[in-house]
Amino acid sequence: MIMKRVGFAVGIAFATSTTSVAQSQRLTNRPAETRFVDSVLARMTLAEKLGQLNQVSGAGNPTGPGGGERAARMDQLRHGAIGSFLNVVGADTTKALQRIAVEQSRLHIPLIFGLDVIHGMRTIFPVPLAEAASWDPQGAERAARIAAAEAAAMGIDWTFAPMVDIARDPRWGRIVEGAGEDPYLGAAFAAARVRGFQGSGLGSRDAIAATVKHFAAYGAAEGGRDYNVAEVSERTLRDVYLPPFHAAVCADAATLMASFNEISGVPSHANRHLLTDILRNEWKFDGMVVSDWTGIGELLNHAVAADSAQAGDVAMHAGVDMDMVSEIYLHALRASVAARRMPMAEIDEAVRRVLRVKYRLGLFTDPYLRRDAARERTAILTTENRAAAREAGRRAIVLLKNDQSTLPLRKDVASLAVLGALAADSAVVLGNWTALGRREDAVPVLDGIRRAVSSRTTVTYARGASPTSDDSSGIAEAVRVASGADAVVLVVGETGEMSAEAESRSRLDLPGAQKELVAAIRATGKPMVVVLMNGRPLAIERMQETVPAILETWFLGVEAGNAIADVLFGDANPGGKLPVTVPRVVGQVPIYYNHKNTGRPPTTEKYTSKYWDIPYTPLYPFGFGLSYTTFAYSVPRLSATTIGAGDSLRVEVDVTNTGSRAGDEVAQLYVRDDVGSVTRPVMELKRFQRLTLRPGERRTLRWSLGIGDLAFYDLVMRRVAEPGTFRVFVGTNSADTHSAPFTLRGMASIPVPDRCP
Ligand code: BGC
Repeated sequence: MIMKRVGFAVGIAFATSTTSVAQSQRLTNRPAETRFVDSVLARMTLAEKLGQLNQVSGAGNPTGPGGGERAARMDQLRHGAIGSFLNVVGADTTKALQRIAVEQSRLHIPLIFGLDVIHGMRTIFPVPLAEAASWDPQGAERAARIAAAEAAAMGIDWTFAPMVDIARDPRWGRIVEGAGEDPYLGAAFAAARVRGFQGSGLGSRDAIAATVKHFAAYGAAEGGRDYNVAEVSERTLRDVYLPPFHAAVCADAATLMASFNEISGVPSHANRHLLTDILRNEWKFDGMVVSDWTGIGELLNHAVAADSAQAGDVAMHAGVDMDMVSEIYLHALRASVAARRMPMAEIDEAVRRVLRVKYRLGLFTDPYLRRDAARERTAILTTENRAAAREAGRRAIVLLKNDQSTLPLRKDVASLAVLGALAADSAVVLGNWTALGRREDAVPVLDGIRRAVSSRTTVTYARGASPTSDDSSGIAEAVRVASGADAVVLVVGETGEMSAEAESRSRLDLPGAQKELVAAIRATGKPMVVVLMNGRPLAIERMQETVPAILETWFLGVEAGNAIADVLFGDANPGGKLPVTVPRVVGQVPIYYNHKNTGRPPTTEKYTSKYWDIPYTPLYPFGFGLSYTTFAYSVPRLSATTIGAGDSLRVEVDVTNTGSRAGDEVAQLYVRDDVGSVTRPVMELKRFQRLTLRPGERRTLRWSLGIGDLAFYDLVMRRVAEPGTFRVFVGTNSADTHSAPFTLRGMASIPVPDRCP
């Protein structure tokens, strides 16, 4: 290993080569880490400490408006007033800034570069909600691994992902960034994505630090309106919203981001209960907490702080370590220390956490570890990475309807009409949060179809109707094209900008003039398939009633067109399942499968919990998804009818492919606690497995449940399992299961500490 001394203040040398195993072991050696971090801290002035807590966006434009901006930034950098950049990308660019930090600042402390690498860096993968529809956490881990390797080559040390917010309201646009509505599925994906980003260890050159966000209950925004208030009880918070965060912390997520919302009067950036009591004291998280963008400054709008100084004090005291963009810590905390409002010990602790993450990332050993111009040229958007994105895309597709086996289509169909503005759009398939993704890299559906069909097939395209306005002028042409074709693929849904941050919708139906387009094409009577693209569940009841085949494809990334064509023509058999409940109409939301029974569960009787004008049931239940083949389930077999606190219950079920094609099924296991000291959900997902079965093949699945799977927060907020009767459900979705009962023995409730698995 070549060691190049560039004189870090406490005599640590920088290695310019790849991190060795021994080195990564050293990096995880916690006593050495503590000594190192303390030795750096001991040399820091208050200004340098506050600099480490300061994260700025962009390095400033030397020539643009306010041309002195870059010069001012560089000056800050030399004076140790910047601890981190976000939104600065590129091996050479980040290297140049890093060089200033480590060669020209007094203490030579390296910078950490952050970016929102949400579903890929340059090779864009399916959006996270789509990835969750694969019910394949290992696939999500592989995607995050590739994203991390690409990002690391391009100068990024740290991603602001995974987003693990439970979302029960599809009006909220950020539902697209997470794994849907379920705590168990969400926890599995949270942990997998952290493992993927952080790889074999934070010190390796292809690993980047993960940020689990947004802590917490951001998805419970009232009215589904982004940034809005969340009114969530401590019990619902702990039973529903926190499990994915805890799973990510257990998977060693290096950092965590506070959320924009308040919970019951307390904005997260001021929430010491969340950021210190739960995160640090209960979960023993020793990583770094970053604010969300201007989140500390927004405490003024929340009106829990009268001025910036107070906002800084409140956030620091709550447990926010790094200030993203507000620059409040940098400018206001000095006075707080001088006025003895802010103990130096609190600032020191925040600085330690920042330095620790930098240390764990190997930045003190080699500040240029993740800035490799050669790999930036060769390791990005490789054939292998594209192939992985295509595979991830196929696995995320959910078949919602397939009457008379309309799908798969024949590749040698004589003429095919491909319709819809989204069909030819290469940007839309990337979805939102596309890091360095480019539309020219992406395969739209039309191209995927053209590549897949036989040389004798004529493919004709018409745009039809706008997804963003009421412009329906192209419908007549689309009808003409459809009328002349043997079959129609109609691509409708949302554009990528209609979901993600600040993209809430009040309606959940097809936007623009697309509903008219669907009706007009349906009226041609041609065999038709609807391909949906969207970042949230869409309420498409009318379409479900009238169209023979519907494929949910979300936004599948650079290989979307190929992945969709694979499924349309039967080269891949769809096996994805919905990670969210799909409502019939927007008025049903929030609607989720793990709801409570109420005192008047819905029946046909009048005084029960339902609607006057629509059924209370969803359009598609959580976990739903069809296949080109069919599957049959046995009744679950339990190893015992009664278990004690220390026992495990083994559950066996046979799944058989009863059709004539190989296919994937996601077997799902749910549990119901029949009676509790507090009301319990009608069922909760506890295990799942995606499996591939040949025609006629039968597989016996075996799962083991323990006391932890029965735990919840009781009347006095202890995490317990309560003796009594339970029911295990196993099946193809949450509404189609077989079940078997069992009893948990005992006289009193059984404490179940919330430990990492
Ligand atoms: C978003 C975060 C994101 C941050 C940095 C914020 O507006 O809420 O999710 O990581 O910006 O881009």
